[in-house]
Amino acid sequence: MKKKFKKKTFVICGIILIALIALTIYFIKMINYHKTYEYKLLKLGFSKDEVTEVIKLRDETKDYILSTGYDKNIIPLIKEKYFIENNLKEYLTYYKENKVSTTDCVAIINVGANKEWYTDTKKTDINEGILMLTNKFYSLDASYNGENMATVSNRYSYGENQMVTPETFDAFLTMFNEAKKEGLTLIINSSFRSYEEQEEVYNSYKNSKGTKEADRIAARPGFSEHQTGLAIDIQTYGSQASTFEDFDEFKWLSENAYKYGFILRYPKDKEYLTGYEYESWHYRYVGVDVATYIQENNITFDEYYAYFIGGSDES
Ligand code: DAL
Ligand code: ZN
Repeated sequence: MKKKFKKKTFVICGIILIALIALTIYFIKMINYHKTYEYKLLKLGFSKDEVTEVIKLRDETKDYILSTGYDKNIIPLIKEKYFIENNLKEYLTYYKENKVSTTDCVAIINVGANKEWYTDTKKTDINEGILMLTNKFYSLDASYNGENMATVSNRYSYGENQMVTPETFDAFLTMFNEAKKEGLTLIINSSFRSYEEQEEVYNSYKNSKGTKEADRIAARPGFSEHQTGLAIDIQTYGSQASTFEDFDEFKWLSENAYKYGFILRYPKDKEYLTGYEYESWHYRYVGVDVATYIQENNITFDEYYAYFIGGSDES
């Protein structure tokens, strides 16, 4: 009898002990779960799917999201193709203050077009080679005169002294020959321009049209792609800037320039990102891979640079 009682007590004590251990484990797990981002984000109002998106971000970004409280704009912005985590705060501010799509919001902030042009400028990183960026926020030193510049024969250009980088020249020649096979003639109308030459171009627009208009048409000295030696203005027989887009050469370039590494640098309807009026004649050499990406994704080089290259910038 005594032995049986002892055994029963032992079993009961065992069960109680196991239950206590299980409960303790459960409570510890619960306490730890309450400390997780998943729990905190769900509690803030994000759905399970939304939490999956937010969880991928860095801890400091998640902390920022937690500190701002639930914001329905966060998820659509995170899901944007060119979302850059470091820019989240700026996206949110800009998106709330402006009637733009999330796609435009991300593009505008990425390229810095929410700021006044020519403010907060940086030096162009010439180490990027054919992918160096000059725009209204990135400038070259006045002494920069391109790398190993090649002189273009006047067979391909108006004027005697057109110069471009060797890669740009090679790519242009191939493109010129391919266009020729279709009875089209691509003529280089302007190419490398030194800092001083750009100053002349810009000042002449400024004197005739005023600063605001000049800034839509020409780059200020140091900020022009023409100073890189990677940009060419193309015309054909009988065309001029205002009419080039009506010529077959323009149509052909629109469909084929990327195959040779060139992009239309200042496309129609992208002035809010590039800061320049549409220029149907201005092509920029970036190499075939990047040109193909830009053509297929219909983005500007400014957007491409901000997303794929700009992270390593130094001011
Ligand atoms: N026309 C282009 C923007 C330049 O001046 O570089
Ligand atoms: Zn140009």
